[in-house]
Amino acid sequence: MALTDQDLLQVTRLVRTFLVTGTPCWGDPERIAIGFNVGLANTFFNTEGGTISIGDYSFFGHNVLLLTGSHDIRKRRQARRNPQPTGGGDIVIGKGVWIASNATVIGPCTIGDDAVVAAGSVVLGGNLEAGCVYAGAPARWIKKIDFLPDEEQELEVPVVVLP
Ligand SMILES: CC(C)(COP(=O)(O)OP(=O)(O)OC[C@H]1O[C@@H](n2cnc3c(N)ncnc32)[C@H](O)[C@@H]1OP(=O)(O)O)[C@@H](O)C(=O)NCCC(=O)NCCS
Repeated sequence: MALTDQDLLQVTRLVRTFLVTGTPCWGDPERIAIGFNVGLANTFFNTEGGTISIGDYSFFGHNVLLLTGSHDIRKRRQARRNPQPTGGGDIVIGKGVWIASNATVIGPCTIGDDAVVAAGSVVLGGNLEAGCVYAGAPARWIKKIDFLPDEEQELEVPVVVLP
């Protein structure tokens, strides 16, 4: 089996990201920014077309796909395989967002604080409003969440400051 330089670069990146985050990344892992106390499960990152940032306390179910990269369907064979465009597909996930199992998020998109993306949904770009539920393929606005009072919830984990 013949490996190209591009293949070897990808393998190196996959191994490196896996060692650091415990999850795979297709593309440059330097394009990922992860906040405090984020739950990734086995999220798959594709950073070929942009950056991915995840706010504090956001967490994901299993098999979530965060995809910034795409391909030019007008091209064929190797030309189609090359990622295009290599920028502009950024995914920005706010704080406290829950992306449920098997959801796919395609950039460019912004997901507001405390929003919920339902299981199996496909977010096709755009701006998802903070504090709302989105579901379906493509994901549509479902409802505004009626949050419980803050004083009835544990909103933050205690932080230990080492001497
Ligand atoms: C998002 C979720 C929490 C919504 O729960 P809820 O507030 O009880 O919402 P409801 O069940 O009342 O559904 C509201 C509407 O959204 C739709 N909906 C809910 N989840 C959906 C989904 N995954 N895909 C498509 N539509 C969905 C419902 O059909 C309903 O539509 P309708 O008003 O036209 O009847 C839940 O559907 C979900 O996806 N849970 C994820 C479970 C999971 O992945 N667990 C693993 C742990 S990370």
